[in-house]
Amino acid sequence: MYAKLLKQSIAPVPVGSRLLSYVLGIETSCDDTGIAIVDTNGKVHANVLESQQEFHTRYGGIIPPRAQDLHRARIKHAYERCMEIAQLQPQQLEAIAVTTRPGLPMSLLVGLRFARHLARKYQKPLLPVHHMEAHALQARMEHIGELDYPFLCLLISGGHCQLALVQGTGRLTLLGETLDDAPGEAFDKIARRLRLSILPQYRLWNGGRAIEHAAQYASDVNAFEFPLPLARERNCNFSFAGIKNNSFRAIKAQERLERTPPDGIISNYKDFCAGLLRGVCRHLMHRTQRALEYCLDPSIKLFGNATPTLVVSGGVANNDAIFANMSHLAQQYNCRCYRPSKRYCSDNGVMIAWHGVEQLLQSKTNLRWDYEHIDLAGTAGFSASAVTGVIEAGIKCKWIQPLTLGKTPT
Ligand code: KG4
Ligand code: ZN
Repeated sequence: MYAKLLKQSIAPVPVGSRLLSYVLGIETSCDDTGIAIVDTNGKVHANVLESQQEFHTRYGGIIPPRAQDLHRARIKHAYERCMEIAQLQPQQLEAIAVTTRPGLPMSLLVGLRFARHLARKYQKPLLPVHHMEAHALQARMEHIGELDYPFLCLLISGGHCQLALVQGTGRLTLLGETLDDAPGEAFDKIARRLRLSILPQYRLWNGGRAIEHAAQYASDVNAFEFPLPLARERNCNFSFAGIKNNSFRAIKAQERLERTPPDGIISNYKDFCAGLLRGVCRHLMHRTQRALEYCLDPSIKLFGNATPTLVVSGGVANNDAIFANMSHLAQQYNCRCYRPSKRYCSDNGVMIAWHGVEQLLQSKTNLRWDYEHIDLAGTAGFSASAVTGVIEAGIKCKWIQPLTLGKTPT
């Protein structure tokens, strides 16, 4: 179906098969060098991902000039491996898609320069990609013909937390976003403060993944309670700074109580992780529930005649507890719920290539050939906002409770 659509929509592209086209995607917005090739049927022909996690873990965070150096050192090799795995020649590519915003400007620049070089050398269109949009659209690749526009998307990553109505590439309407930290960022900082990485099994894991794993082994999931952020605000915004600061205080109090050494970890860290995860789930559910009610409001009807659908995306969507809770919430509204496969939730080149495919399918003539006029932007928003509309609607919800996580006390 997609290949047929493409045949009608990209007639001006002078090369490649009209029935099946390949797009190369390049992702360097943060600390992963991702390069992939995806075709217009959503088939992944190669997916090369070089993580810098081990390096940055040693320094307790990302150092932008170092991240840039590592991207520079790896990008050419990653591209060559990608072409080799896909068994394709550069001439067979239909277009080159690259993340241009938002992200670390120094890292973005490496990807853009490389993409520009390839596009010029092989005379291909260059497709600029908004990183968060790519996260939002990724689940469509694996559900072609089933997951249609529009849908509500909860974007949860290390740098962002947004609720948006997605209608197509470049057509996202923001309903709410975080006022401070992103959930992945909060998980990472709390895991570091907790010193989870001193446990060998978590040494190379990101904070969110380590917290999720530890929470599964809690013996008392109610030992730590977290107040609900923005409980009185009838909007779809988020706040994780309170959860983060409460975590720091709770860890400090427990350390004092147990006289934990400076290189030690509190004994009940698993219970703490379960309490934290439950607090984050409750907050995400609250804000998303209001967004769902807003989209379903008969006077607003943002889903139109489409089946109401919620998509959860971004690195934090890897979390099974969070996804189970979001699915549970969606179910109460007869709403479908999706997330990308786990290998595509976190940053990767496939999502950029797929966004390129979506751009090809959507555009008729405006493919980019003017390689010099593509801007990089560290921060970037969506094309439209309904944040005020949500506030004006003043929706009061009857809250859905989160599912019970982990083991209950015996
Ligand atoms: O989307 P992503 O790969 O990069 C950004 O665009 O930020 O997201 C990275 C974030 C990290 O903060 C990490 O802690 C979080 O995703 N993350 C998780 C899990 N796996 C990764 N958070 C919760 N549970 C997980 N299983
Ligand atoms: Zn991301």
